Amino acid sequence: MNLREYLAQQQKLVDAELDRLVPPETSAPETIHRAMRYSLFAGGKRIRPILCIEAARTVSDADDGVTAAACALEMIHTYSLIHDDLPALDNDDYRRGKPTNHKVFGDAMAILAGDALLTIAFQVLAELPAPAARVVKLIGELSTASGTVGGMIGGQVADLEGEGKAPEAALLESIHRAKTGALLRASLRMGAIYAGADEGQYQALSRYGQHIGLAFQIVDDILDVEASSEALGKTAGKDAAQHKITFPAVYGLETSRLMAQGECRHAHAVLEPFGGRAQRLHELADLIVQRKS
Ligand code: IPE
Ligand code: IPE
Ligand code: MG
Ligand code: MG
Ligand code: MG
Repeated sequence: MNLREYLAQQQKLVDAELDRLVPPETSAPETIHRAMRYSLFAGGKRIRPILCIEAARTVSDADDGVTAAACALEMIHTYSLIHDDLPALDNDDYRRGKPTNHKVFGDAMAILAGDALLTIAFQVLAELPAPAARVVKLIGELSTASGTVGGMIGGQVADLEGEGKAPEAALLESIHRAKTGALLRASLRMGAIYAGADEGQYQALSRYGQHIGLAFQIVDDILDVEASSEALGKTAGKDAAQHKITFPAVYGLETSRLMAQGECRHAHAVLEPFGGRAQRLHELADLIVQRKS
């Protein structure tokens, strides 16, 4: 199966599991379930759950049930996007090719839809058919990666407080590692934990996640400059307009591209002990750097 077919198959798997896990639109209170599903099924790339599932497969052949754990990552990610787009944060009108959640449902319901996705993510983990010790570790990984110390919320705070500040390299890297890198690294770590990885496997997948996590946000910054809103499904050119601290702002486009490629090379290198089992993770690292949306 080529990469494109594989991605389509994985996205379908993730979508079906999300559909199973989230209450239907007909379930009361209907508005919140419509709002949650609106953003969840608006067409994300599903890169985090796919990385989680693939990390599990790299470690073990028995990957039953990992898809639900992977969906918890997509729920947190989608909540972070809904809140990132709110007028009080990045104030965006367009996301995943559609009007943003608050444009359709209003600010109050968008805030609650984000809260609800955050909450259900941990409900899903708590109800996983996995040994209790593993479930506890998964909850620890996801909450830490989403949290304030080196996690997504901490990164979002630094990103907002960085607006208009002098673009400075150390601050830039800490923002990106936290706001985006932490959840991507957690995707790999959660797959590893779910599959019962040993310490060496866990560390290798974690390092891979750290490299592709940074590369991912470098490329997000480059695409914000170079790609069209149509290609991205979200408003292009926002970072410069909002004086965000980004890789192109600090290093320029060419050096940013080289830095993303450097992270990608490191990601390939740390997969070496897995041999052929990590073939898809190698392909996913290249995809993250070469992507156009
Ligand atoms: C966008 O993430 C926000 C960042 C953290 C850079 P994605 O590029 O994964 O967005 P979707 O899920 O495909 O919409
Ligand atoms: C968002 O970073 C990171 C999140 C935690 C949501 P951006 O603000 O650059 O993401 P986009 O470009 O709006 O998707
Ligand atoms: Mg933002
Ligand atoms: Mg944004
Ligand atoms: Mg961006």
